[in-house]
Amino acid sequence: MVLPSAFDEAHDRAEALERRTTLGIGGRPDYLFEPASAEEAGLLVRLCRRHGVGLRILGGGSNLLVDADRVAGAVVATRRLTGIEIASEGVRAGAGASFPALARRAAPLGIPVLSGCSGIPGTVGGAVVMNAGGRFGTVAEAIVAVEGIDADGLPFHQPVSERDFGYRSSPFADVLVTAAVFRREASLDRPAAEALFRQALDAKRGVQPLGARSAGCIFKNPNGPLSAGRLIDAAGLKGQRVGGASVSTRHANFIVNDGGATSDDMRALILQIRQSVEQAFGVELELEVRVWS
Ligand code: EPU
Repeated sequence: MVLPSAFDEAHDRAEALERRTTLGIGGRPDYLFEPASAEEAGLLVRLCRRHGVGLRILGGGSNLLVDADRVAGAVVATRRLTGIEIASEGVRAGAGASFPALARRAAPLGIPVLSGCSGIPGTVGGAVVMNAGGRFGTVAEAIVAVEGIDADGLPFHQPVSERDFGYRSSPFADVLVTAAVFRREASLDRPAAEALFRQALDAKRGVQPLGARSAGCIFKNPNGPLSAGRLIDAAGLKGQRVGGASVSTRHANFIVNDGGATSDDMRALILQIRQSVEQAFGVELELEVRVWS
């Protein structure tokens, strides 16, 4: 089947995703689309569907391990779906808006709980899909609606509440989120929200390699009181290296690309960590990062 010219343009535009992931790893997709509106995003989803082209969504690339070879199919980057505005329903933020920028402005915008999300990279869309957060606050605590394009290419506007989300999970894993709406409230005054922002950021700076090339925490914390970082550390794996990838000496649930790591280096190190933790503690670690292969 002959593909429409939009695919030719998207093929020419496609650059290696190593420039668009925080790990700095990732090959060139067959097609790269960057819709500037929800309408355009809907058209693209329908176009890809009609022509049998698989599609993946790229937000900030901060929780993503992408194969260094070719990435098959189309990648839809959300970075042009920006804008943070106060609407009647709450604060509406485009999927491609910077999540750190939203967290920074959370207090003046009236969504203080997001102040506790300081130090989390990526875009609003990625933060919604993954229910980003930590012990100082999560997306689920503030979100009231999600807008997007469903698998058939049709737009949706879905009211949501905290119980629709789980630990690093949401009902939006298989759709294209274009915007999210957050509840405005005034339960924290500005100085208190500022203090929360600082506290969450300082807590992370103290223990996480925030400046390094990484994809954040690699594994989910297992059920119960166990922490993946603590288990990996206790298995003696800090500093363990495969090629250009190594287990952070600061926080063992981070793998850093500190020397031109390839996706194979990352995968091999992930496997070693899993095997060692299972041998030592009988715990099977589950990936938190998304893998594109
Ligand atoms: N620990 C170690 N060694 C390490 C790392 C941690 O012994 O190398 C111990 C700590 O001392 C602490 C326990 O493990 O007693 C938990 O560590 P931490 O407080 O750093 O929290 P975490 O459970 O490892 C979670 C999230 C982070 C989030 C922080 C702060 C997961 C997988 N990780 O980390 O999220 O920033 O809490 O709220 O849920 C991410 O999702 O990418 C991420 C970084």
